Amino acid sequence: MNYFHLSIIFLAILNSIYGRMVTFSVIAFGNEASVTINGIVYPMKRIDDYSNVHAVTAMLEEVPLEYYYTVDGQSEQYIRTLDSTAITSHIEFFGREKTIRPLKGMGYPPDKPQWVRSIGKTEVFDDSYIPTIIVDSGSREYFVSGNDTWTLGRFTMILKDEIFTEENVPTKCQNRYEDKFQWRVKLQHKIHKRSVFKFRANAVDPTFFRQSLYGDMAAAVGNPVHNQVICRVYLSDGTPIGLYLMIEVTSSRSFIRTQFYGNEISEKVKVPNKRLGFPLDCRSGSDFYPNGPYDQFIYSEGETNEGIAYLSKAMHEVNVYDEADVQRFNKEWFDLDVFLRSMALEYLTGDWDSYWMDTCNFVMYDAPEESTDSTLKYYFIDQDFDLTFGIGLSHKVNFYGDAFPSQSYKTLVDRTWNVGSKDPANREAIDIFLRGGVTTTMFEKHLIDIVKHVFNPVALGRRLSEYVDRYTEEVKWDYTIERLRIANNPNHTRYVFTMDDYYANLGDTKVKSAQWGLMRWIKMRSQAVAKEFGFEWDQEPLDPSPKNIPIPDDDDDDDDDKNNTITDENKMNLKASAAVNSLTTINITCILVFITSLFLFPIAL
Ligand SMILES: *[C@@H]1O[C@H](CO)[C@@H](O)[C@H](O)[C@H]1NC(C)=O
Ligand SMILES: *[C@@H]1O[C@H](CO)[C@@H](O)[C@H](O)[C@H]1NC(C)=O
Ligand SMILES: *[C@@H]1O[C@H](CO)[C@@H](O)[C@H](O)[C@H]1NC(C)=O
Repeated sequence: MNYFHLSIIFLAILNSIYGRMVTFSVIAFGNEASVTINGIVYPMKRIDDYSNVHAVTAMLEEVPLEYYYTVDGQSEQYIRTLDSTAITSHIEFFGREKTIRPLKGMGYPPDKPQWVRSIGKTEVFDDSYIPTIIVDSGSREYFVSGNDTWTLGRFTMILKDEIFTEENVPTKCQNRYEDKFQWRVKLQHKIHKRSVFKFRANAVDPTFFRQSLYGDMAAAVGNPVHNQVICRVYLSDGTPIGLYLMIEVTSSRSFIRTQFYGNEISEKVKVPNKRLGFPLDCRSGSDFYPNGPYDQFIYSEGETNEGIAYLSKAMHEVNVYDEADVQRFNKEWFDLDVFLRSMALEYLTGDWDSYWMDTCNFVMYDAPEESTDSTLKYYFIDQDFDLTFGIGLSHKVNFYGDAFPSQSYKTLVDRTWNVGSKDPANREAIDIFLRGGVTTTMFEKHLIDIVKHVFNPVALGRRLSEYVDRYTEEVKWDYTIERLRIANNPNHTRYVFTMDDYYANLGDTKVKSAQWGLMRWIKMRSQAVAKEFGFEWDQEPLDPSPKNIPIPDDDDDDDDDKNNTITDENKMNLKASAAVNSLTTINITCILVFITSLFLFPIAL
């Protein structure tokens, strides 16, 4: 992988020698680019043959700068500015005026537990910047055919000050019944410690922001959740592919390592005993049945899902009316706070494609460092937030008699889902924990806190208006692109949205897939909960609290994520209730060599 970094230190050294050196960089699909600074034209050069970044470094006086870019004779119609001390423009995008724009985040009261086991957003998921992804133009056919698998000739990620590129990148596509499908890549070389990225198309959400809001809420309330950032995707010849939500893949080791074993201050990962647990990708039909089946808890080669049998057994044995027993279960087997907060979010958003309602789709992770030879500590991790806030939910009373979005969560407990299908089923963990007792009290406390501080028109309203302000021009770009692919699958509705749909559905109006306006759903659901439990939400949105990140130790960064061999240690002495599958052993050698090269710009003196 080539790696490029605008070296601030290097520029600072040049500054001390020559005066003020300022680097301008712009992504532009054209041949000749220049920047006009305080009236003087500086020709720019391509810095490589794949990123379409053009750059120039100029010696300038220490005065505020006004400038604009010109590409193949076309000039930008607005003036950009840099203050008198800035030494880089960062990597800008031709025709988009704002390069950096910090967004106000969502907060939660500082006395609530935080998730501090992550390396954090890093530059990759820093949403003050809009990353650009460039795929080689030889891969055009992939975005036309939506083939199952493909190898991208080259994948390039452009961040604020960095460019990462890798050749021959395997990719997979999903939802190819939409013109704009979802795809993912697995890189050989990590980008800020992460190697697996998914590009969510948001093809059924006219507003584009439902998934982002959901992820923001999960992070704000202290749950482990994939990071996310909205990015633009192009082919290297300038063909627009679209606007995507780039996220981590929750069931990947890349995600587990960075979300459970990272330190946000040092941006380092350290896995205790160099052994990860097994992230299970839980598909429709996954539940904590006392006697299985568990075949929908999908695991990778060299891993196993047999621990779910022990967890399910323990779950069915816990006495939810006994505080001490609940705390024991919470400590030894299953983080109940993370799970119950997740359930509150599923209920609030009407998320019918996760655990609680209709289909099951989530991730389970067992943390070896919190397990013993007779217990396995699991975490529930939610994912796939597209079918939420009234997407695909009836506007009238539905099949189950639900008056969405105002029904109490209590109407969703002890319920049989998928009635009439071949697999009608109740939800084990819902019926165990939410029928009364200590766990139900815990759930209601989380539910009330979440509506008070996060899921309400004030807090979500501010975050949404930040998104609208920042990304409306990007959505407009996406909604007016001529798509490479026209999916004609008679079994699926094809969604094509306009900006009228976007504006209508942000507010009160239902639009095709979205039976509820986004803000209308949020208002009605939060009002119903506030009325049921008798409270009011914050008058002003909370800002994110500073995080209490543990002081990092100065151990070397642990980059070995392949030592995941099943050992006797994690088979445990728990054979009683589950048949032990024959276990395979993997032995994958540690790879990962970084070839780092620093490009220096031509200096126009
Ligand atoms: C298209 O998908 C099929 C099935 O996954 C695969 O065998 C084939 O190699 C793919 N074609 C290309 C060009 O990658
Ligand atoms: C549509 O569904 C039918 C019945 O399940 C199936 O046979 C057919 O292949 C599907 N068509 C497409 C294009 O997927
Ligand atoms: C892999 O894990 C095993 C068991 O925890 C340990 O004994 C071994 O040293 C590890 N290997 C490496 C290369 O870290």
